Amino acid sequence: MDSLEQLVASAVQDFMAAQDDAAALENAKAKYLGKTGQITELMKGLGKLDPEQRKAQGALINAAKGQIEAALTARRDALADAQMQTRLNAEAIDVSLPGRGRAGGGIHPVMRTWERVEAIFRSIGFDVADGPEIENDWTNFTALNSPENHPARSMQDTFYIEGNDSEGKPLLLRTHTSPMQVRYARSHTPPIKVIAPGRTYRVDSDATHSPMFHQVEGLWIAENISFADLKGVYLNFVKAFFETDDLQVRFRPSYFPFTEPSAEIDIAFGSGPLKGRWLEVSGSGQVHPTVVRNFGLDPEKYIGFAFGSGLERLTMLRYGINDLRLFYEGDLRFLKQFN
Ligand code: FA5
Ligand code: MG
Repeated sequence: MDSLEQLVASAVQDFMAAQDDAAALENAKAKYLGKTGQITELMKGLGKLDPEQRKAQGALINAAKGQIEAALTARRDALADAQMQTRLNAEAIDVSLPGRGRAGGGIHPVMRTWERVEAIFRSIGFDVADGPEIENDWTNFTALNSPENHPARSMQDTFYIEGNDSEGKPLLLRTHTSPMQVRYARSHTPPIKVIAPGRTYRVDSDATHSPMFHQVEGLWIAENISFADLKGVYLNFVKAFFETDDLQVRFRPSYFPFTEPSAEIDIAFGSGPLKGRWLEVSGSGQVHPTVVRNFGLDPEKYIGFAFGSGLERLTMLRYGINDLRLFYEGDLRFLKQFN
């Protein structure tokens, strides 16, 4: 029947005309298959026919309906495919492009020293501890036998934090890692054998001093640890750290309120860029009885040594660097040399 064929043809045409928006296709579908669509209207008209005609005409209309439905499905699929293709093209990754590359990071020379120091002391049985950079007055000074107004405090001028701790005492950026002696000893039982590396702060700035620098504290307390053990342990450390015998180490008598006797440890190399120049790397000494008492221990029973060494100074000596400020200028030409 001509009109049915035309109806199918016009439906196909309408479907093809519907482009990528789904509403256009739905409108076209409604025009033929919807409640008042043309096929639906034809179906309704069947009721007026006699049974024979109704059967024949019904079959023809059904066949046309099937063709229209098939065309609709085909168009729907085609549109979905096209849409997917557009998306794939838009999101395509060009695998022929070279990668963006990732700049190789490196370990800062002072951090290398930190890692080396930890490895060496761990290997001889030292624990490694970590503590706060913001300290209170008691732990940074008073417990270390430097009471308020003690002149030794002025050797370590630092940065104070606004506000006080819970006891109304000032808070400050720690001037050395020595407060870790107190924190660790008060929370552990002897024998105590620990190092505590970390950041420290002072109002300092020249070729061998920076306002932020690193120290490593060492503490060994037991019933019979003497100044001789300090020398033995430290000389062994220096040998392991520098991997050379071409250096001199001297223990220079000095003063710290928290040790008695006290010594500063200087190192000089026999060759290399810093040849013959003595550089102080550490303070050290036998822990003062008052400090042992502040650890919560009996100074008649417990004795030992402590040291506090500068990680930047050790790094300067290891690589022959004569200005410590180079470590913190962030110049990649300098830093790349260590990786
Ligand atoms: C002290 O800080 C003592 N707490 C060390 C100590 C610990 C003595 C335990 C006895 C027992 P001193 O101020 O000398 O001491 O500093 C120790 C080391 O830190 C120095 O030898 C030096 O290597 C390093 N140092 C100090 N100030 C700076 C700075 N501004 N920049 C870089 N390194 C520094
Ligand atoms: Mg010193």
